[in-house]
Amino acid sequence: MSRELRRRGAAPSREREAGEAVDPGAADSPAAVPGAPPLPVAVCTASPSLALLKYWGKRGGRKNLPATPSLAVSLEALKTTTRVRIADRDEVIVDGKPQDPERYAPFFAEARRLLGVEIRFHAESVNTFPAAAGLASSSSGFAALALACATLAASPAGGAPARRRAAAPSPARLSALARLGSASAARALFGGFVLLPAGGRFARQLAPADHWPELRILVAVVAEEAKELSSRVAMERTKTTSPYYRPWVRSAAAELPEAVEALMRRDLERLGGAMRRSYFRMFASMLACDPPILYWAPESLALIRACERLRAEGIGAWETMDAGPQVKVLCLAHELPRVRQRLEALGVRLIESRVGGPAEAHLEVS
Ligand code: PMV
Repeated sequence: MSRELRRRGAAPSREREAGEAVDPGAADSPAAVPGAPPLPVAVCTASPSLALLKYWGKRGGRKNLPATPSLAVSLEALKTTTRVRIADRDEVIVDGKPQDPERYAPFFAEARRLLGVEIRFHAESVNTFPAAAGLASSSSGFAALALACATLAASPAGGAPARRRAAAPSPARLSALARLGSASAARALFGGFVLLPAGGRFARQLAPADHWPELRILVAVVAEEAKELSSRVAMERTKTTSPYYRPWVRSAAAELPEAVEALMRRDLERLGGAMRRSYFRMFASMLACDPPILYWAPESLALIRACERLRAEGIGAWETMDAGPQVKVLCLAHELPRVRQRLEALGVRLIESRVGGPAEAHLEVS
C-alpha cells in the first residue's frame, strides 16, 4: 500500500513533468501567457474516510492529535478533486467558496517545511457530494490538498532542492501533514481499512480495499446543506463541558481490539456491534454538553430504526453516523437490494459505495 501511494501520488511520473522549464516567479496567473512556459497544476483525487470507530476529541496542545483511536473505511463512490498551482498567497476555494485563510495557515506552514519549498499554493477543490454536512468532506479535502501540494512541490517549478524532489515524503509524513488540517484526513490518504491510533501523528492502512470485496456502504443523505456547528467546535465543547467526555475517551480505547479483530475476520455482526457502541457513545458525550449538541434529524432516527428492523429479520444492516444527520449503513453485497429497498422507502437519497482506494495525484500543465 505505502508503495502504491508513493508511486501514484507524491512522485509524479517523468513524462508528466512537462512543466520542467517553468519560471516560478511567473506562475501566479492561471492564464497562460503566449510564449511563456506552461504552468504546472497538481491534481489530486481522494475519497472520504468513514469512521467505523469514531475520532471525537483532541489531545491538549495545538497539534490536532486525536484523543480516541479511529478505525475507518474509504468510500469509493464519493470524491474530492483538488487542483493546486503556485500563487503569490495561500488560498483555498471549496465548491466555489473561498475558505477562511486562518483555518489553513498551520497546514500550509507545515507543508512548506516538510516539502522544503517557499512557494504559496492556490487550491480549488470540488466535491461530488455535499460538503461540511457530516460526510467527511474535510477528510478527503485535506488529504487531497496534502498530496497535491507534495506533487506540485516535487515538480521543478516547486523550487525544492533536487535531493528533496528525488525523495518524495513518505505516506506517513503526508498523513501527518493532512492531520494538521483535519485529523480524519490523516486516514483519507490511504485506501481500504485504516487506523489512526489515539494520540497518533499519522494513520496506517490495516488492510487494502480487496480485503473485503463484498462489503457495501449505503450513504443515506438526509440533508444536503452544511451543518451549523463544525466538528471542530463541537469537539471542543464536548471536551470542555460534557461530564461524559472522559468516559467516552476511555470506552473508545477499550473498543478498538474487538473492532480490529472483527474487521480482519470480516465479521460484520461483531464489527457492526462495535460500530454502534462507538457512535452512540460519541453522541452520548455530545448530548451531555452545555449547551447540548444534537446533529440528528427525524429521518436519521427513522433510518436507525429501519436498520434495527432489518437486523431483527436476519439481514445484516449496520449503521453509523458522524457530525451531521446523514446515516451510513454497512451491509454485504448479496443483501444490498433488500437493504436499499427498505431505506429507499423512507424517501432519502442513497449513494451506494464499495471500499475505496488511496488518494491519487498527477501533474498537468495549463
Ligand atoms: O476530522 P474532523 O475534524 O472532520 O472530525 C471528524 C469527526 C467524525 O467524523 C465525527 C469522526 C471521524 O472519525 O471521522
